[in-house]
Amino acid sequence: MIGITGASGQFGQRVLHHLTHTLSVPATRIVAGTRQPAKLANWAARGVTVRALDFDDAATFGPAFVDVERVLLISTDALDRPGRRLEQHRRAIDALAKTGVQHVVYTSMPQPEGSPLLIAPDHAGTEQALAASTLPGFTVLRNHWYFENLAHFMAGALASGTWYAADGAQGSADIARDDLALAAATVLAGRETGRQTYTLSGGEALTKAQIAQRVGAVIGGPIVVAQVPLEGLVQGMIGAGLPEPLARVFASFDTNTAAGRVAEVSGDFRRITGRDPQSFDDWLATDQSWLKTGH
Ligand SMILES: NC(=O)c1ccc[n+]([C@@H]2O[C@H](COP(=O)([O-])OP(=O)(O)OC[C@H]3O[C@@H](n4cnc5c(N)ncnc54)[C@H](OP(=O)(O)O)[C@@H]3O)[C@@H](O)[C@H]2O)c1
Repeated sequence: MIGITGASGQFGQRVLHHLTHTLSVPATRIVAGTRQPAKLANWAARGVTVRALDFDDAATFGPAFVDVERVLLISTDALDRPGRRLEQHRRAIDALAKTGVQHVVYTSMPQPEGSPLLIAPDHAGTEQALAASTLPGFTVLRNHWYFENLAHFMAGALASGTWYAADGAQGSADIARDDLALAAATVLAGRETGRQTYTLSGGEALTKAQIAQRVGAVIGGPIVVAQVPLEGLVQGMIGAGLPEPLARVFASFDTNTAAGRVAEVSGDFRRITGRDPQSFDDWLATDQSWLKTGH
């Protein structure tokens, strides 16, 4: 059996899709762990085994991983409290090692060690926990940022026409979430053993100005990128209603980009899946649901 933690999230459900549809894994070989089993009723109806799993509830670990050999550990979503995710992930890794799981696949981020991104220590610490564990094998997937994040990061720019940034006009090699789900499903359903680390980026690094130009062309109005000091960016987000800790986390994405830490274009996606990742232009042409706020 192969298992997925956090299976009801957007990433988890695309992994379920790729396992069953793209890779033709029988649903009866799949265990989907989630805090919300009801959200996966449609997958249960198709033969997937849905089990209760909550990294904050140690009692769920044993029953969730019975007979499971390979597990995709999807990082949790507690962004506003850096450190909490690391506790959750450490607990899960301990449990996975004890229950006899042979291989764990983990969704990390690019260059987590020494990153100025405020949530990076969660990923760096989880990679260290995997390395220190007694697990026979694991694969770290250092996922670049989703194109889909733009729905959040560009919301203000779509409304006002100005995209505030503190990233030194550096590029970011983002990738479609669905492609990352395909790569994760491929490794999970495969036979890879040992300890591997891959970096999964899009095919090109784009600056915010390049993205703004392309999005502006679609919505039929210019979006101007304004570089501001980091603290100005933070205060702008707080002024727009974001709690300060979250504003500082989001602003640190720009600091991380400014340091050139997400500009690397890697061939690992092709190595795993045998094809190129979707380009930004193709993604933008097919997914415009997020462009609801025009100016
Ligand atoms: N690379 C990027 O750009 C990017 C962007 C956003 C997020 N992420 C990371 O990638 C993950 C998956 O992304 P997504 O788009 O699927 O996010 P999402 O839709 O917000 O899903 C959040 C995920 O966190 C899981 N989770 C939360 N608390 C948990 C707990 N106590 N125990 C076990 N699982 C828990 C949820 O599982 P259940 O609800 O099923 O229990 C769900 O799968 C996120 O959680 C985050 O760590 C990466």
